[in-house]
This record gives sequence, structure tokens and C-alpha cells, in this order.
Amino acid sequence: MAASKPAHMLRDEDLVGTNLEGLKAAPLRARRVTSVYVYEAPVRLWHWTNAGAIVVLAITGFLIGAPPSTLAGEASAHFQMGWIRYLHFAAAWIFAVGFLGRVIWAFFGNIYSRELFYVPVWKLSFWRELWEEVLVYAFVKKYARKFIGHNALAQLTIFLCFTLTGLFMIATGFALYSDGTGIDSWEGRLFGWVMPLLGGNLATHFWHHIGMWVIILFVIIHVYTVTREDISSRQTLISAMINGYRNFRDDSRD
Ligand code: HEM
Ligand code: HEM
Repeated sequence: MAASKPAHMLRDEDLVGTNLEGLKAAPLRARRVTSVYVYEAPVRLWHWTNAGAIVVLAITGFLIGAPPSTLAGEASAHFQMGWIRYLHFAAAWIFAVGFLGRVIWAFFGNIYSRELFYVPVWKLSFWRELWEEVLVYAFVKKYARKFIGHNALAQLTIFLCFTLTGLFMIATGFALYSDGTGIDSWEGRLFGWVMPLLGGNLATHFWHHIGMWVIILFVIIHVYTVTREDISSRQTLISAMINGYRNFRDDSRD
């Protein structure tokens, strides 16, 4: 680390075009950081909309599975379960259409926009980086490698616990929905195969419910890791998902 120290101090040429142009950089003793534009606006917009939809889906889904006690009076007057289901389906549409939009964006966006949809298992470097990241999370290795997109462990977890589980929630969710709209509806035609495959309506409810817990566990770990990495790693994370730029805290090469 010591040899690389001057590399992340401000250099004379960094002052060109600033109000300090012409001065020597060394006495300023200012650090320089490299900033890379990673998460484009559609990805950021989708990330936060999707996070909001999932919060609504998890709360209302939980209440569908474990309903509050019945209220006195006509159900149509207070519409308690009606509102819970209405909110679930409204958020489900935002989630499903958002997912489709995110798939479409992967064709037009930068290379990082595609990381959500695959895991490069065929690359030796992926497994090496995955192992390195495991060692960092186990507090065995002190510094994580610098990553421009997701780190290998993040990419694998996001793919399994969000992308695949999200698709599963859409398939099982619309299959359950087709109970109301009928087998002739588009939901029935597109997802009618799901319920028989999973063993019927009750089993589909069960697996849809389990999917929620997979996503909740993912979110808990995700928020912990991005906050922890943001504080302790050599790169910014949370602000990168807000303004798109990933800043590196040093410019050393290791
Ligand atoms: C992250 C996404 C989602 C989560 C966390 C979630 C969660 C849940 C949960 C926990 C239940 C209750 C299951 C039970 O115990 O019986 C449920 C029910 C249901 N969900 Fe979802 N869901 C999601 C996405 C969707 C989507 C995309 C749809 C598509 C329309 C959908 C439609 C339904 C339907 C139709 C029911 C059954 C409602 C009823 O029987 O009254 N869900 N959901
Ligand atoms: C329901 C809640 C959430 C869900 C489902 C979720 C899901 C995701 C997904 C799928 C990605 C990958 C994005 C892509 O490649 O297109 C991602 C990235 C990210 N999320 Fe979230 N997120 C949630 C909440 C949050 C919160 C609350 C924060 C901030 C505290 C956060 C910060 C980030 C950051 C910093 C990244 C980029 C990580 C990296 O560069 O490796 N997320 N999230």
C-alpha cells in the first residue's frame, strides 16, 4: 500500500481547468478519487420503485397469509381484505411491469445493466473473486477488490434471491390470480401450468409465501451489506444507486 500512496494524491494536471490551475498540487495535500458512472437513470429509478413495490407486496402478502381478525358489519362497508388484496395486486403490477422494463433495459443499457440476469460461472476469475469476497465478509481478508459493477458475491446472491425468485413470484402470483379471472384469461393461458406443476392451489400459495421469505431475507442481508460496504470498503455504494457514480476512495491498484 505504501508504494502506491502518491498515486491517489492530487496531481498538477488535475488542477488544469480549475480555479487553482498553475499552482503546484503537492502542497495542497489533497486526495483525488476516481469516479465511474455505473448505474444509469432507468436502473436507479427501477431499483427504488421496485424496492417500494416489494415493501408493499411483503406487508400485504403477509396479511393475506395471516389475515387480521374479521371486523363487525358488512365486509363491503369496511373492505378490509379488499384493500389489502387491492394494494397487493397494484404493487404486483408495478413489480411485474418494472421487471419487464428492467429486462428490456438490459438490451439498451451499459454492461452493468446486464449483471442482474446472469452469473459468469464459466469464468475462472468469477470464482476467484467470489472466494476473495467470501474471505472479506468472513473478516479473514482486510480489503475487498475494487468493483465497478456488482462484486461476484453480490451478483450471485442477487441473481438467485432476487432475479430467479422474482420471476417465480410473478409466475406463481399470476397463476393464483387466474383463480379469479378464469383459465381463459391471459393470466390463465400464460401461467395456467404453474399450479398443477406445484401440486395445486394450496401448494402454490405455500411456495408463493416461501418466496416472500427468500426475498425478505435477501433484503435484510442486502441492506446490511451495502451499508457495511459503503462505510468500510474502498468504494461508494448507496450514493452510487442514487446518483449513478461509484467513487473509489483510493487509486491504488491492489
Ligand atoms: C415480491 C413479490 C411478492 C411477494 C413478496 C408476495 C407475497 C405474497 C404472500 C405472502 C401471499 C400470501 C400467500 C399465502 O400465505 O396464502 C400472497 C398472495 C397472493 N399474491 Fe403475492 N407476492 C408477490 C408478488 C405477486 C405478484 C407479482 C402477483 C401477481 C398478480 C401476486 C399475486 C398474489 C395473489 C393472487 C395472491 C392470493 C391472494 C388471495 O388468495 O387472496 N403476488 N402474495
Ligand atoms: C426491497 C428492498 C430492496 C430490493 C428488493 C433491492 C434490490 C436490489 C437489486 C435487485 C439490485 C441490483 C440492481 C441491478 O443490478 O440492476 C440492487 C442493488 C443495490 N441496492 Fe438494493 N434493493 C433494496 C433496497 C435497498 C436499500 C434500502 C438500499 C440502500 C440502503 C439499497 C442499495 C443498493 C445498492 C447500493 C446497490 C448496488 C450494489 C452494488 O453495486 O453491488 N437497496 N438492489
